[in-house]
Amino acid sequence: MRMDSNAPIGVFDSGIGGLTVAREIMRNLPMEKIVYFGDTARLPYGSKSQETVLRYSRQIVRFLQNQGVKAIVVACNTASALALDTLEKEIDIPIIGVVKPGAKVAARETTGKKVGVIATEATIRSHLYRKLIQEIDPEISVEGKACPLFVPLVEEGWRKDPITEMVARRYLKELQDKEIDTLILGCTHYPLLRNMIGSIMGESVRLVNPAYETSLALKQLLQEKNLLNQGHREEEFPYRFYVSDAAEKFTSFANSILPYDVQMTRQINLEEY
Ligand code: DGL
Repeated sequence: MRMDSNAPIGVFDSGIGGLTVAREIMRNLPMEKIVYFGDTARLPYGSKSQETVLRYSRQIVRFLQNQGVKAIVVACNTASALALDTLEKEIDIPIIGVVKPGAKVAARETTGKKVGVIATEATIRSHLYRKLIQEIDPEISVEGKACPLFVPLVEEGWRKDPITEMVARRYLKELQDKEIDTLILGCTHYPLLRNMIGSIMGESVRLVNPAYETSLALKQLLQEKNLLNQGHREEEFPYRFYVSDAAEKFTSFANSILPYDVQMTRQINLEEY
């Protein structure tokens, strides 16, 4: 099927976290329209099985295709790790996740071939970051650490709280002891803790933000497929937001991190897709 380069990009996540990816797309691809879906009724994905995450992701992809998107960004690390491979084979529009772009940059940037990954339990268990990095350079060692408390702490608004710092110090100690030189923030929420994580790890550790890298990879992909929006975003609302629950809470979080005034989030019933 030939897609229209003026059509929107579909971006999805288990909830609000993928807004860190949408934010980078807004900054780096300002001409692109976005339809964002956050599965707020069913998050977190990070503690769920592959089968469940794949089932949820398929429904969301159907919803986004129904909205006429020209490409899809799986803005959730967990869904990228557990479902992207299968989704890629099932649809005929370009689809990218956040894991590969993050892994690629980490492999390129590491100076001492010691990379750390922090992410949800499911992403760490998938070992996908390790696999992709070692495909590029088998000599790079990759240490994973699940940090499940970061997601609720960020959603509670405790991004600069001493309690969050205590939790972060405890999680990161293992990676400090392993003397990693590069750390992948492998979960949508973690870029929002970037300053805290950076100050704990110290200046010698380079932080990789897959959200940012994904926006660059998306630009390249759209260019290759001749799908970059060349015209104007003539629509009054170039960004549309949908969730499966708690639309108001989503809107206020979105307004706290996006360079865009979100006026409304629509709630939809995913079971219909
Ligand atoms: N969006 C998820 C991720 O990036 C974090 C939240 C969740 O567990 O659903 O892995």
